[in-house]
Amino acid sequence: MKVKAPVQQGQAYRVKIVNLTYQGLGVGIYKDFPIFINNALPGEDVLTRIIRVKRHFSFGKVLKFYQQSPDRVHSIDEKYLQTGIAPLEHLKYPAQLKFKHDQVAELFKKAGLKVQVKPTIGMKKPYQYRNKAQIPVKMVKGQLETGFYKRHSHYLVPITDFYIQDPKIDQTILVVRNILRKYQIVPYNERTHRGVIRNVMVRRGRKSHQIMVGLVTRSKKLPHAEEITKAIVDKCPEVKSVIHNINLRDNNVLLGTKNRLLYGKPYIDDQLMGLTFRISLNAFYQVNPVQTQKLYSIAIKEAQLKPNQIAIDAYCGIGTISLSIAKYVKRVYGVEIVPQAIKDAKVNAKLNHIDNVKFVANRAEDQMPLWAKHGIRPDVIFVDPPRKGLAESFIKSAASVKPKKIVYISCKPATLVRDVRRFNQLGYHVTQPVQPVDQFPQTVQIESVTVLERK
Ligand SMILES: C[S@@+](CC[C@H](N)C(=O)[O-])C[C@H]1O[C@@H](n2cnc3c(N)ncnc32)[C@H](O)[C@@H]1O
Repeated sequence: MKVKAPVQQGQAYRVKIVNLTYQGLGVGIYKDFPIFINNALPGEDVLTRIIRVKRHFSFGKVLKFYQQSPDRVHSIDEKYLQTGIAPLEHLKYPAQLKFKHDQVAELFKKAGLKVQVKPTIGMKKPYQYRNKAQIPVKMVKGQLETGFYKRHSHYLVPITDFYIQDPKIDQTILVVRNILRKYQIVPYNERTHRGVIRNVMVRRGRKSHQIMVGLVTRSKKLPHAEEITKAIVDKCPEVKSVIHNINLRDNNVLLGTKNRLLYGKPYIDDQLMGLTFRISLNAFYQVNPVQTQKLYSIAIKEAQLKPNQIAIDAYCGIGTISLSIAKYVKRVYGVEIVPQAIKDAKVNAKLNHIDNVKFVANRAEDQMPLWAKHGIRPDVIFVDPPRKGLAESFIKSAASVKPKKIVYISCKPATLVRDVRRFNQLGYHVTQPVQPVDQFPQTVQIESVTVLERK
């Protein structure tokens, strides 16, 4: 039987906000029916207009505040709330840290796991921290614009100050935008499939100050590539690498696999944990270097590594964790799916005169059983997977080689909790409080370190 929702699209209702979803939306309840409301915080009393009604919930927009939260930040630019850039910008930073702690604690509790969670480690300056930007380019009102998509849409909001990015990256994006305008490069249109430029990628080494610019196109050719490159390099002396990336696919993957070097080297260098790293366009590199050092230091401390031990760094990227732990153990094995990242990792080992690390390009879930077959018995396994978490086959073969510890660096608490439950069934249990580290201030993303031990 179809039950009618007690709210109607277009109508306004007064509700108290009782919670904040993991996406940062305030939750109001009207006659037992949830309304998810952008820019509303727990404890607030608001008048909301319903903008969409689903079977079991609805979405609303704030029309009026009757009471505001003491945790609210006033005088913010609301366009950041509408985009994915800074959806928590309206929440004071200590409350953001508490929100992230509570999300992790709540998920473990819901799963029936008794796990303690420490307070989230935050940043002194929780903005302008990102060392990388991948900015969509679109035609808006007849002009090429750079900005950010409105949440759940491909509608571009033109933005010049991205707030959470290194300001030098913002400046570089503007320079590139103006040059693309000058040479009348047409932005790619997802509906008509016409046009050239899809997005601009800028990465800046926090320590090295070297900048890489990636121009991602839907077409094989970038008209005026030479002139554009010269103009970028002339205007931005920190630019050490300009790459044309061709992405012919029509999906949400931002970078294509084909690169054409337009200027300098196909990589930049940066320093992290006292080591030098070479970073290619397609390789993953943590976006918040200040917090990454804290994150890695906690993971390394919790692992209690010893000189006679073997460690595995699964999902190793360009080898940042592998090379940071190499000096504490006898040998490290690293695996990563992106071949270019493994090439970088191998060079990074050489650059830092480290010779007890072996890197291999493969899927971690395929490599783990191979290592097991070849008799590699790690004492500690570090995992740092993408948001989807670990594959079942990885968990099984990791547990089968009986490491003492598994140090799990997670960027999504829901998959972390799912994987911890699977490890529990195989005899691994969380022995220390989970430590969230805020890698992404002003956003809803949550990073944490969890240690599992064999019992
Ligand atoms: C969150 S990043 C961590 C990288 C690295 N540990 C660091 O801190 O810079 C996850 C990495 O896993 C890689 N990856 C994704 N799926 C994978 C898989 N199935 N097997 C191995 N690596 C994978 C990604 O390319 C990315 O480099």
